[in-house]
Amino acid sequence: MRQIYVIGSMSMDLVVSSQVVPEQGETVLGDDFFTTPGGKGANQAVAAARLGEHVHMIGCVGEDTFGKQIQQNFKDNAVQVDGIQVIEGEPSGTAHITLSQQDNRIIVVPSANGYVTPERIQPYLERMKAGDIVLIQQEIPAETVTHVIDYCAQHDIVSILNPAPYREVPASVIAQANYITPNETESAHLFEGKDIDEAAAQYPNKLIVTLGSEGAMYHNGSEIVKVPSFKREVKDTTGAGDTFNGALAVGLQKDYPLTKAIEFANLAASHSVTGMGAQGGMPYLADLEGEFDV
Ligand code: RIB
Repeated sequence: MRQIYVIGSMSMDLVVSSQVVPEQGETVLGDDFFTTPGGKGANQAVAAARLGEHVHMIGCVGEDTFGKQIQQNFKDNAVQVDGIQVIEGEPSGTAHITLSQQDNRIIVVPSANGYVTPERIQPYLERMKAGDIVLIQQEIPAETVTHVIDYCAQHDIVSILNPAPYREVPASVIAQANYITPNETESAHLFEGKDIDEAAAQYPNKLIVTLGSEGAMYHNGSEIVKVPSFKREVKDTTGAGDTFNGALAVGLQKDYPLTKAIEFANLAASHSVTGMGAQGGMPYLADLEGEFDV
C-alpha cells in the first residue's frame, strides 16, 4: 500500500486572541490564550490522517513537556510516530500566534525543528517506495528540503513542496518537485516579476497557488484552471493552508485527477477555518462525505 510521509516541523502553538494588535512599543490587553499542537508539518500530517490515510511523521521534538504533548497528539490522530526523534537538551519548536480580526500573525522559533538534517532523516527516506507521497515545508533546514526533493526525484517518490514560510528555493528544487503549493504571497516571491497566471503557465500541473477564500488555481497545460472554495463562517484561519496540503496529498493518493484533488483539498480547508487552533476544525473523512463524492 502506498504511504504518505510528512517531513517537517512540529511545534506547540501559543495563541493569543486580541481585538487590537499592539504597535511597536505599545501594550494592549488580549481576550484569550491557549496552547495547542501545531507546526506546518504536524498540521499536514494530522490533516491527511484524519482523512483516512496511513501517515508517517518524520521530524524532531525537544526533550520537554511540549515534545511529549506533540507526540501524544499524533497518537490521538493515528499518525505513525516511528520517524520522530527526541533531541536531548533542546526545547520543542514553538509558534507564537496573535489572532486578531479573523487573521493571524505568527513568529516561529524552530528549536528542535532545526535538527531535521539530511543525515537524521536518511534512514526514513530509504524505507520509502516508488509511488509513495512525501509532503515537505520550510520550517526545517533548507538543505534538508533540497536533499529530500532530490531523493524523491531519483526514486520515483511523489513530492509536494509547500514553500511556507517563504525563503529562497533553489531552481533544482523547483524543477524536481512534482507539486509546489505556495499561497499568492509566496508565489510572488518565488517567481519574482511574474504574475500567478504566468508562473502557473510556466509550471503546468505542478504549481498550485492557493488563493485563500477564493480557492486555488493551476495551469493544466492548455489553460488556467480556477478551483473555487467552499464558503464557511470563519473562526480561525490558522492551519487552513496545511489542511489544504494534507488533503491534496490524500486526493493524489486516491489517484484523483488534479482538479478533483484540489476541490477535495479546498473542501477540507474550508472546514478547518470553522474551529479554533490549527487543528481544531480539521475534518475527518466522514465530515466530507455528504459534500463530496469521495
Ligand atoms: O500553518 C500554521 C502553522 O504555522 C501553525 O500551527 C504554527 O505552528 C506555524 O508553524
